[in-house]
Amino acid sequence: MQSLRVELGERAYPIHVGAGILDDSSLYAAELVAGRAAIVTNTVVAPLYLERMRRALAAAKIDVVEIVIADGEQAKDWRTLDGVFDALVAARCDRQTPIIALGGGVVGDLAGFAAAVYQRGVPFVQVPTTLLAQVDSSVGGKTALNHTRGKNMIGAFYQPLLVVSDVATLATLPPRELRAGLAEVIKHGFALDGAFAEWIEANIERLVGGDADALAHAVRRSCELKAAVVAEDERESGRRAVLNFGHTFAHAIETGMGYGKWLHGEAVAAGMVMAAELSARAGLIDERDVQRVRELISRAGLPVAGPAELRLERYLELMAVDKKVAHGQVRFVLLDHIGGAVLCADPGQRLVREAITAAAAAAAATH
Ligand code: NAD
Ligand code: GLY
Repeated sequence: MQSLRVELGERAYPIHVGAGILDDSSLYAAELVAGRAAIVTNTVVAPLYLERMRRALAAAKIDVVEIVIADGEQAKDWRTLDGVFDALVAARCDRQTPIIALGGGVVGDLAGFAAAVYQRGVPFVQVPTTLLAQVDSSVGGKTALNHTRGKNMIGAFYQPLLVVSDVATLATLPPRELRAGLAEVIKHGFALDGAFAEWIEANIERLVGGDADALAHAVRRSCELKAAVVAEDERESGRRAVLNFGHTFAHAIETGMGYGKWLHGEAVAAGMVMAAELSARAGLIDERDVQRVRELISRAGLPVAGPAELRLERYLELMAVDKKVAHGQVRFVLLDHIGGAVLCADPGQRLVREAITAAAAAAAATH
């Protein structure tokens, strides 16, 4: 097992990464007091891992209230959240009762938001079981629900006390979900660390094939990179926005297609190609860099363009409600070089249209 910390002063917390650590009761005993905890999980993850978690917590003298929500992105909504509150109230969970998210990013985002607002805030623990959640969503304290008109529109910054990333849980993940998680790994390389981007390029087949050592390295390095950015700018007043490389386009795809049709990671993959095309048009990188982005995403088995049915005008409409919009202007995260993303003011609709069109045309040409 390897451990790192997200350095946030009195809200600093450890991230433990290792194989088979899900039921290491000492990790929970170190951060939680004996008593009770509520585990929020879903109908897919519960049969796989809930019993092991329950036993680990019992060994740490913690009784479990089990809350099992529906599977899928559509569950990241008010109705499901309300069901979680009903269960917490019915079980008389109080301000001292931690909420533990056991599952992917959907469970983590929803349970984290529940923890942020239930009785004005209760202790929160992340036990991510998808690659995407281990490399990204469990770290950094963003919690959210989707609004029908905009992805992650409702939420709070709320840091966990502890993150336990058991990479052995990735063995049960469907290949499509593993690939979706790789999109965020690739994002960390392109946006933050050129050497990591090169390592991903050299190891992409191992990663796609589920090689445990390669995945463990990808999780650790991603967490290190993300933790450093979060420590610098917890509430995204500036620098943290670079973690959203590809996301302005991605959120438009997810909202435009209906939540769950395109996986978040798939939308981010296509979004990164569009953002790279836009970066080239803004004069920041050259065509060879765009090709590098496209090639790695394609080798990861991820889409390099958005869905054909999402029209250009619809992208622009949806992007206008992105959270990076400031004073009515859409801002974009662009690549300044491989391994370095920057937040830019609106480069103008003409270039944005060209970037979306170019990504679609290049994808069509290779088919
Ligand atoms: P997800 O939570 O829907 O999980 C993907 C699928 O895998 C689901 O069907 C889930 O039930 C299943 N699953 C989970 N663990 C499994 C396992 N070990 N074995 C088998 N099946 C398993 O999706 P995700 O990709 O983990 O997360 C996507 C969400 O994360 C999106 O809502 C996105 O907006 C959010 N997100 C948040 C942040 C953040 O900073 N908070 C960052 C990135 C993404
Ligand atoms: N996933 C982007 C962030 O956490 O800021």
